[in-house]
Amino acid sequence: MVTQARRYHEAVSYMRGLLSGGGPDWSDQPRQFKSYPGLPLVELPREAELPGVSVAQSVQGASGAAAAPAGLDVLSAVLFHAAGLTRSASHGGVEHIYRACPSAGALYPCEVYLAWPGGGGLRSGLHHYDVTRHGLTPLRPGGVDPEALGLPGRSRLPGEALFLVTAVMHRSAWKYRARAYRYLNLDAGHLAEGLALGLGAYRIPWRMELDFSDEAVAAHLGLDPAREACLCVARFEAGGQAEADAAPGPLPEGVEAFSRCAVSDGLAQDLAAVHRAASLTHDHVSPESGKDRALPGGAATRLGSGLRWRALPDGAGAAGRATFFEAVESRCSRRAFMPVELSPAVAAQALSTLCGALLPPGGHPLEHACEAGVLLGSGPWGGPGLYMLDREGVALGLRRDGDMRPAMASVCLDQLWMRRAAMVALFFADFDALDPLLGARGVRWSFQAAGRLGQRLYLAAESLGLGACGVGAFYDGEAAELLGLPEGTSLLYAVPMGPVKSSRR
Ligand SMILES: Cc1cc2nc3c(=O)[nH]c(=O)nc-3n(C[C@H](O)[C@H](O)[C@H](O)COP(=O)(O)O)c2cc1C
Repeated sequence: MVTQARRYHEAVSYMRGLLSGGGPDWSDQPRQFKSYPGLPLVELPREAELPGVSVAQSVQGASGAAAAPAGLDVLSAVLFHAAGLTRSASHGGVEHIYRACPSAGALYPCEVYLAWPGGGGLRSGLHHYDVTRHGLTPLRPGGVDPEALGLPGRSRLPGEALFLVTAVMHRSAWKYRARAYRYLNLDAGHLAEGLALGLGAYRIPWRMELDFSDEAVAAHLGLDPAREACLCVARFEAGGQAEADAAPGPLPEGVEAFSRCAVSDGLAQDLAAVHRAASLTHDHVSPESGKDRALPGGAATRLGSGLRWRALPDGAGAAGRATFFEAVESRCSRRAFMPVELSPAVAAQALSTLCGALLPPGGHPLEHACEAGVLLGSGPWGGPGLYMLDREGVALGLRRDGDMRPAMASVCLDQLWMRRAAMVALFFADFDALDPLLGARGVRWSFQAAGRLGQRLYLAAESLGLGACGVGAFYDGEAAELLGLPEGTSLLYAVPMGPVKSSRR
């Protein structure tokens, strides 16, 4: 029984020469879009005027600013730029449809639901975001008490609405089997960050919650809990004229069946086991929980202790040339890196987007469920090496000397295109610190944090005229050895980034 994040992580590690054979079953490919045939759809406006804010400003979000009430225009823009189908292009005669977020293996396991308090042109109730039709399917009327979902009641926002990000687990497990729990959470993190940045662009205050009752949320959303799971909830201020609280109305009959995505989509035992373990609820960890329930960050971590830190240059947060919305619309995974180093100012601009808080800006004990580092070829911070990023101090500290980028490409299942990337952002977890606090649920906290930071880098790269590509495939033991990771700490995710040939992906 996998009860701890570390055990799960080790159990699904890749080892050179030992990747299990047998590819996915192409005759039973999962459906990538959930819809509710027969139910009406509220179409979302497609021509909303978008704020001209940069990625960096979207990361800064609502700090101190008054929120504009969210209505259909805002919901449309935020949902589209987190989960929408943004554009299509033909590559070698094959039509490729891009989405706002990347996804491991282009399997797109995530769905988004909206619990809306009413106002802004939309009736109160639970809605599902229909990606292909860019609309909302009303599933049940009425309000929902966040405490009934197991969300911490005291962090309720005024006129609160919820985005609930779920994963249809077999969509990823079809290819990645038990390792899919990593990718489900990385993908959910990318999408959740899309929501957070979209809300931030409108200066709408939000809070991301990973503490809730899986059972209560699945029942409220009408999910088949053996197939689809809620992985995170974004609470945000709708700010409009909420309808009077009414108890949630009934769901359409048999709605759980829509969580199915293939004929044979039952979860394999090992994936079901980690999901079950990660579904156990723990005491809420909140800013009031006290220091003994907080994860250290930056210099106080095992990866960051004893390093000499140097601040990123001032003005590092300056805007790139594209707005947040433009960056999402032109985004794709770009791998055609050119062997050109980044100027320190540009590297700092990209890295500084990682420094904004992931959880409430006032501080949260689990803000550091994942730590960030970067492989650089050179820089004002010293020679080539692995640098850790202190996200609060906005500083880099050299952890290990030497240009590890070529070796890293080989560690990443010989994805040799990575060798030429100017920098490789790396995201780590200290499972020995996470496990006592969160048990297997720590997989969600750490991987989603990594996915969220990854989404920022994709968009920062895009707005700076650079390329980026997520990499979740690597030989775990080789990565630990190359990077000199202490026992119990692990690499979660890598995002190479840098100048790319403009005409090629
Ligand atoms: C969590 C995650 C892991 C990924 N891992 C890899 C990888 O190991 N190698 C790779 O070439 N692309 C990887 N990608 C990129 C996906 O293949 C890409 O997002 C997907 O094919 C969709 O293409 P697009 O991002 O250009 O829209 C990853 C993306 C994510 C989000």
